[in-house]
Amino acid sequence: MAKKPISPIPVEQLPRHVAIIMDGNGRWAKKRALPRTAGHFEGANNFRKIIRHTRDIGIPYISFYAFSTENWKRPDDEVHAIMDLMRKYLVEAYEFFDLNVRFVLLGDRNGFDADLQEKYDNLERDTHDFHAMTTGIAANYGSRYEITAAVKEIAALVKEGLLQPEDITEEIISQHLYTKEMPDVDLVIRTSGEYRISNFLLWQSAYAEFYFTDTLWPDFSPKEFDKALVDYASRNRRFGGV
Ligand code: FPP
Repeated sequence: MAKKPISPIPVEQLPRHVAIIMDGNGRWAKKRALPRTAGHFEGANNFRKIIRHTRDIGIPYISFYAFSTENWKRPDDEVHAIMDLMRKYLVEAYEFFDLNVRFVLLGDRNGFDADLQEKYDNLERDTHDFHAMTTGIAANYGSRYEITAAVKEIAALVKEGLLQPEDITEEIISQHLYTKEMPDVDLVIRTSGEYRISNFLLWQSAYAEFYFTDTLWPDFSPKEFDKALVDYASRNRRFGGV
């Protein structure tokens, strides 16, 4: 049996919530003269590998940016290929059952075809009580859209007289985000040499550390992930204090 990986840093220094922007699938494919969809295929395989690794070393929450609200602008065949990969992996996610991993969709499910919505619903329901790790899949996700939706929900509560404007707190806003059952993000990782946040978990990353690497997402191995953790552990997080 393969040896279970151990954390490269003391467990008490591990981030509680890591958020990953899986960038560079297209370039990975281009370098090999393959279609972009082949890059997404390898990217999805890596998504699976990294879930297993983070769960094994004991990180309790991880979120992946799989598809943004802006990604619908990509060519139809690419969008279809990514949707099909989701279909495949949402079914195969059941392989994680023995690992006790919970899955939650972060995003507006109404944007997906009915069968895909059902797959997300089933996976969320069937893994609801699993607690070794929670994996957030940000799909049809945009942070500004998420915050706008939260504001609308809160405004409706105010209109109904169930909440007073002066009683609106940061906690209440957090409770209306897709991540309501997850803690704030401690570490954001972006692959492929881009230095942007791209509308990903803006509210949740208010005090996060950022780690950027030139490695393209399909090549971002568990070993590279461990390197990011070692770097994270060396930072001095002050949360606005001194
Ligand atoms: C960014 O690379 C990647 C995406 C927009 C899609 C990520 C999707 C997956 C890894 C697969 C499906 C997801 C799941 C949950 C199974 P890019 O295409 O922007 O790369 P480039 O910048 O090199 O063109």
